[in-house]
Amino acid sequence: MSNIIVFGTQWGDEGKGKIVDLLTERAQVIVRFQGGNNAGHTLVTRDKKFILHLIPSGILPPDKTCLIGNGVVLDPEVLCREMDDLHKGGIEITPANLGISKKTHLIMPYHKELDRAREKAKSGKDRIGTTGRGIGPCYEDKMSRVGIRAGDMQDRDLLLAKIKKALPEKNALLESLYKEEPLQAEEILGIITPYADRLVPYLKDVSLKIQEAREAGQTVMFEGAQGVQLDIDHGTYPFVTSSNTVTGNASAGTGSYYSMDEAIGVVKAYTTRVGQGPFPTQQDNPVGEHMQVQGAEYGSTTGRKRRCGWLDLVILREAVRLCGPTTLAITKLDVLSGLDSIKVCTAYEYQGRDILYPPQEENSMSAVTPVYQELPGGSEDISQCKTRRDLPHNARMYIEHIEEELKTPAEIISVGPDREQTIM
Ligand code: GDP
Ligand code: IMO
Ligand code: MG
Repeated sequence: MSNIIVFGTQWGDEGKGKIVDLLTERAQVIVRFQGGNNAGHTLVTRDKKFILHLIPSGILPPDKTCLIGNGVVLDPEVLCREMDDLHKGGIEITPANLGISKKTHLIMPYHKELDRAREKAKSGKDRIGTTGRGIGPCYEDKMSRVGIRAGDMQDRDLLLAKIKKALPEKNALLESLYKEEPLQAEEILGIITPYADRLVPYLKDVSLKIQEAREAGQTVMFEGAQGVQLDIDHGTYPFVTSSNTVTGNASAGTGSYYSMDEAIGVVKAYTTRVGQGPFPTQQDNPVGEHMQVQGAEYGSTTGRKRRCGWLDLVILREAVRLCGPTTLAITKLDVLSGLDSIKVCTAYEYQGRDILYPPQEENSMSAVTPVYQELPGGSEDISQCKTRRDLPHNARMYIEHIEEELKTPAEIISVGPDREQTIM
């Protein structure tokens, strides 16, 4: 019996889905606690590939309980589509293996309209580059106390009344400010109803489910979405997502107070970022191109090309301080093969001095200059290595360097997308 949390340490897409899927054999319950379908978590088994946006990455084995916590924002249409896609892939979703908190806020059509209209209205440099999935506007409504929650799907009259209450403000913004078409309450209800009817049987008290699992001696795994630098408070604000991605939010986002026995910080062996915002170690050159192509760095949700660059120990140090990983999972080490020398950012030069943690003022991350240490690279194919000893000397040195700098062991090394391509 233990609590495990898996979280992203950088700007998302570190390979959390693969690590959660891999560790699922150790857990009975897997729960998402924040974010929504802005996430795209990829699972690769010997013959199949799944990209999950809302359903926890523990869904593949038939005997697990996957839960969507209250801290998530949920688009009913997207969830139903994901259930159908999994069905086509041979995975059946039923109320026996999936539960949704009644307190989870629903992404409504007007949230998506507003997300897109706002981005469109911003000038290039001010755009956040959101996924356009309505994430920010839905969290706004939650905080403004006008949100619609999953439990409301049980009562159509309540649903319509709440939509009617929320809509005048949304339509005023859409029509007057963004020059978009207004939405009709009945029309929205019509869109939502078939999905709502389908999802009602999945409603559960997620907090209670987790407590029952604990009492039965089961292990619960908390699956983070996004990464520390996208955290609404601790990330590169305002170029962030709208939820707390740090491990501390797992409690509030599920309704469970248990401390984490294991916290696994997923670290991509280099850095990527999709969407706008500062990225000090970005390589807009053949090195970045190597990472982008070899790592197939395209967004799992939007298909956008990910920006790529060297590993940044400054942001990772902060992730360790904010989230307390007991171990690291270093992913995509194989992608660095083919680079003769590898740089690692050890500090930032900022206002005339070297700093070890990111500066905290808004936009200050755009004003730092990375200080690099150069390490030898290699050209060997490491994608079939099964133990750490199988790895070439330089790859081992690279991992040890990260472990020392972050004062945290890397007990998982991933050398390919498949479950099997992992050194434990
Ligand atoms: P997540 O959002 O953190 O779950 O990560 P994504 O699924 O968005 O992106 C990670 C991508 O890298 C996916 O396409 C994975 O299949 C792939 N991947 C994961 N681990 C490895 C690895 O060790 N090597 C390679 N080459 N690909 C990997
Ligand atoms: P996973 O869980 C990478 C980014 C978007 C944008 C910013 C705000 O797969 O790691 P939002 O739609 O959330 O309002 O967009 O956050 N973003 C992600 N980037 N991985 C993700 O999730 C992301 N989720 C959001 O690109 O820059
Ligand atoms: Mg992703």
